[in-house]
Amino acid sequence: MSALEGRAAIVTGAGSGIGRAITERLIADGMQVLAVDLEAASDAPGEPFSADLSTREGNRAAVAAALERFGRLDAVVPNAGFQHVSPVADFAEDRWDALLAVLLTSPFLLAKYGWAPLVASGEGRYVAIASAHALVASPFKAGYVAAKHGVMGLVKTLALEGATQGVTASAVCPAFVRTPLVESQIAAQAKAHGMSEDRVLEDVILAPHAVKRLIEPEEVAGVVSFLVSPAGSAFTGAPVTLDQGWTAR
Ligand SMILES: NC(=O)c1ccc[n+]([C@@H]2O[C@H](COP(=O)([O-])OP(=O)(O)OC[C@H]3O[C@@H](n4cnc5c(N)ncnc54)[C@H](O)[C@@H]3O)[C@@H](O)[C@H]2O)c1
Repeated sequence: MSALEGRAAIVTGAGSGIGRAITERLIADGMQVLAVDLEAASDAPGEPFSADLSTREGNRAAVAAALERFGRLDAVVPNAGFQHVSPVADFAEDRWDALLAVLLTSPFLLAKYGWAPLVASGEGRYVAIASAHALVASPFKAGYVAAKHGVMGLVKTLALEGATQGVTASAVCPAFVRTPLVESQIAAQAKAHGMSEDRVLEDVILAPHAVKRLIEPEEVAGVVSFLVSPAGSAFTGAPVTLDQGWTAR
């Protein structure tokens, strides 16, 4: 029997890309997963739960639903997100607010509302999907980079608070992953620059990678599975990078 059999998790942004792969992997590991997304589809993996995580009510409802359905909560995986690209002088204020709400305030609210059950678990895990952009910046991504650096600070704080309470907190920091979020950037940049999508991928998207390939969502899910498992119990308060050598430069 898997060590994770019967344990319960919340994964946000579970309908697409990395969140979907994490949900599939944790279910394969034997966990029960509340799969939260804006419009959670019943044919997606996990127990679907629709919520707008840019609101307090959405985050509160997600934690309440997990406890109601599973009677416990052992892992919280804040993953939902989106990107907005703009020079700072033109960066729309409402896009900034929306990015901070989903990428930073939702992870805080999920920690706040889910903390007591994570402590009660005895082996609580908080695994935020941050980004290499939690550690380094890129131009035109002020909201995203600021929010992801904020998540790193949140994770460090949770790790210190959880140290005597049986809860670990870590931030998974991938470089570019093959998901709709990146595929739409490739298509948009190819159109904007009049370049082929292959050239945009190599010359623009993968420019900061030392290793010139996209990461697959399943690779990120494998890291989350490890961090949630008993073998991951010493990983707390730190970034866990899978960044194709980006931050080695
Ligand atoms: N793809 C990458 O290259 C990459 C790299 C590093 C980090 N990340 C991070 O991984 C996470 C997942 O990204 P992805 O590439 O899988 O993106 P994706 O676009 O494939 O999936 C994101 C999901 O989040 C959901 N979501 C967005 N706003 C929401 C809201 N207000 N309420 C509920 N759900 C909402 C979307 O509906 C979508 O299903 C994000 O936090 C992203 O920043 C992605």
